[in-house]
Amino acid sequence: MSTPSLLILPGDGIGPEVMQQVRRIIDWYGDKRGLKFEVSEDLVGGCAYDKHGTPLHDDTMAKAQEVDAVLLGAVGGPQYDTLDFSLKPERGLLRLRKEMDLYANLRPAQCFDALADFSSLKTDVVSGLDIMIVRELTSGVYFGEPRGVIKEGNERVGINTQRYTESEIARVARSAFELARKRGNKLCSMEKANVMESGVLWRDVVTEVHQAEYPDVELSHMYADAGAMQLTRWPKQFDVIVTDNLFGDLLSDLAAMLTGSLGMLPSASLGAPMENGRPKALYEPVHGSAPDIAGQGKANPIACILSFAMALRYSFDQGAEADRLEKAVEKVLADGVRTADLLQAEGAKPASTSEAGDAVLAA
Ligand code: NAI
Ligand code: MG
Repeated sequence: MSTPSLLILPGDGIGPEVMQQVRRIIDWYGDKRGLKFEVSEDLVGGCAYDKHGTPLHDDTMAKAQEVDAVLLGAVGGPQYDTLDFSLKPERGLLRLRKEMDLYANLRPAQCFDALADFSSLKTDVVSGLDIMIVRELTSGVYFGEPRGVIKEGNERVGINTQRYTESEIARVARSAFELARKRGNKLCSMEKANVMESGVLWRDVVTEVHQAEYPDVELSHMYADAGAMQLTRWPKQFDVIVTDNLFGDLLSDLAAMLTGSLGMLPSASLGAPMENGRPKALYEPVHGSAPDIAGQGKANPIACILSFAMALRYSFDQGAEADRLEKAVEKVLADGVRTADLLQAEGAKPASTSEAGDAVLAA
């Protein structure tokens, strides 16, 4: 098998700071585990605009289409706020997601024991929690036509349309079933089939894909509002959840916050399988460029490190190595190494970004 390829786009603000720690971990895998990657690095966001006058150069876009996986830091910053909409750093990220057609957005909610008391829920409700929300990312009410604000008589009317084709539902369902097979073999699909026709179709198509292709996976269905209640009542009943763009937006934020800080949250966005059978994939921390702490060595690198762990698992079939990396993070937290965002006690001395990286490497 040829050396797997990885395109790294550190971006702006704390993006390069957290990505530097990931680069050290990638080097460690090459040196210590014989796991080598062909790594290239390029610009996205404000730094790409500064150099090329566009937040994503065509050459970078082309590279992203060719590699096995893209790993992105974060984009944006106040100095770009006055730019024309089409030139804003975020457009670079949106273009990547759109042109790579990354329709399945994976947001894990995982509770590290050392952070269980950081949650707003009771410790026993979240301790050991490890679930995954799969959100459809490229269709649904955020994209459906007609849309807009129109005038009807004397009134303004706001319109958005929830629209899903069979194939859009089937492909994200497949991504979720595949994931479930690699995890606890259990999938819960959420919609509102009780009040929405698109929800009826969603439920039908997920059921058809299940029967035809994944009968071995345990499938259940839940109305999304009930799902929100169950996620806060007893989240450990779930393994993988698949849902549409709108419900997924809400439910993934809810699920992620069951467990702690923005500086801890990784994500993956997956598209159609490529010729080698791997999905097109972009991995990135959920957080942004954090201009308020950029350049100060304060950023928590764990969200970006865990995003790389997701790449190991979902793009490179290295589940055991992903476990190894997640265990190292767990140990670091258990040892009390905390960047500033994870400190509760006044006066405790926070670890810097590179000290947190040192600790993960040592572990
Ligand atoms: P943000 O996620 O950058 O920051 C929110 C708060 O969380 C800040 O107080 C920040 O210091 C803290 N924080 C974020 N990541 C952290 C980490 N790894 N370690 C410690 N603390 C961390 O969101 P904000 O402030 O709304 O946006 C800042 C810039 O980032 C904007 O230009 C925005 O457009 C962009 N952004 C980019 C995203 C991306 O690249 N995917 C996502 C969200 C925002
Ligand atoms: Mg959101």
